[in-house]
Amino acid sequence: MTERSPGAREFAASSHRPLAIVRAEGAALFDDRGRRYVDLGATHGAGSLGPANPEVAEAIARQAKDLLHIGSGYRSPVRTAFLEKLLGLLPSSFEKVFLSNSGTEAVEAAIKIARSATGRPKVVAAMRGFHGRTLGALSATWRRELREPFEPLVPGFTHVPFNDAGALDAAVDPSTALILLEPVQGEGGVHVATGEYLAAARRAADRVGALLAFDEVQTGIARTGRMFAFQHWNVVPDVLILAKSLAGGFPIGATVTTAAVEGRFRGSHHSTFGGNPLACAAGLAALDFVEREHLAERAERLGSAGIARLRGLPADRVREVRGLGLLIGLELRTKVAPYLAALEERGYLAIPAGATVLRLIPPLVISDADWAAGLAAVEEVVTHGSG
Ligand SMILES: Cc1ncc(COP(=O)(O)O)c(C=O)c1O
Repeated sequence: MTERSPGAREFAASSHRPLAIVRAEGAALFDDRGRRYVDLGATHGAGSLGPANPEVAEAIARQAKDLLHIGSGYRSPVRTAFLEKLLGLLPSSFEKVFLSNSGTEAVEAAIKIARSATGRPKVVAAMRGFHGRTLGALSATWRRELREPFEPLVPGFTHVPFNDAGALDAAVDPSTALILLEPVQGEGGVHVATGEYLAAARRAADRVGALLAFDEVQTGIARTGRMFAFQHWNVVPDVLILAKSLAGGFPIGATVTTAAVEGRFRGSHHSTFGGNPLACAAGLAALDFVEREHLAERAERLGSAGIARLRGLPADRVREVRGLGLLIGLELRTKVAPYLAALEERGYLAIPAGATVLRLIPPLVISDADWAAGLAAVEEVVTHGSG
């Protein structure tokens, strides 16, 4: 990734693009000089509805005039309405939601719920998995360079190869509280789970009485062509973890589970801002919009056409094209950074998923024309080199 801009005052904990983005329209981002970019990264997955969705913005503005914040110790009609809406989209086994402010917090809640409800310590996660950067979520995250500077992490976490049902089954034992998986690994390079693997995870959890959680922070909210990715395989987890685009780009995290799991939970867990009225108003507007605009169908249509087209790229440049819906990864034969820079020069902002994978996760509202132009730009830089 490119150097940060001179004089930046932010703690330099991660790399930044030097671009100053000041506004958005649909899938387009505009910088402080008025230049238009097509966002092929959906502002890291949080901008599925477009990062300035007018209906979400309007709902936030309306709510802000009434009440910016009220603690979850009080009843709140907008929170109730949002929770009803969210649960209405899920199988009836899901009845309880813990709201927080980010993906990593939603994962933390899942880990705490599982340990408390089962009275067990062990968490089985997958190699190449990504679950966030707070210490518990980071303990479930795979990449060594993300983990090492912060060790020792939380004990009790084990990683098994992704899509290897036998290895997963062997790792799950009576001390297992939680199996934690992404149905499509996003940050780890865009790897799609097989239905057999997820079904084996379900069986392994049931065999020992552990909980199965799907981290759908990136795959949820229509990204993969279904409202939630698990609906592709109909393997229903005990815990569903959501964030990113759940409130149309406003900070939110949700850990959704069953009444039975809640009934076994001991202790307490809380967040001051979790479930605040602005997030709930944004979430309600976002879910209405995703449904009404049929964004899951759109993701499926644009994504499968895009994947088919990109599979025509030369094999001496592209090792593999993987994906589901509008969550697409091109595994290149060389480092991805120069290709991202070449795309940016042409007005297209894509993101990596590891050192050699170019990730395309555009807003689901991207126009057919912008998506076609984005694919053409990717084809051009990949075919003719990144110069
Ligand atoms: C699958 C998954 N889980 C968790 C997270 C962490 O979310 P957040 O950055 O909102 O803490 C991410 C972020 O990329 C993610 O992709």
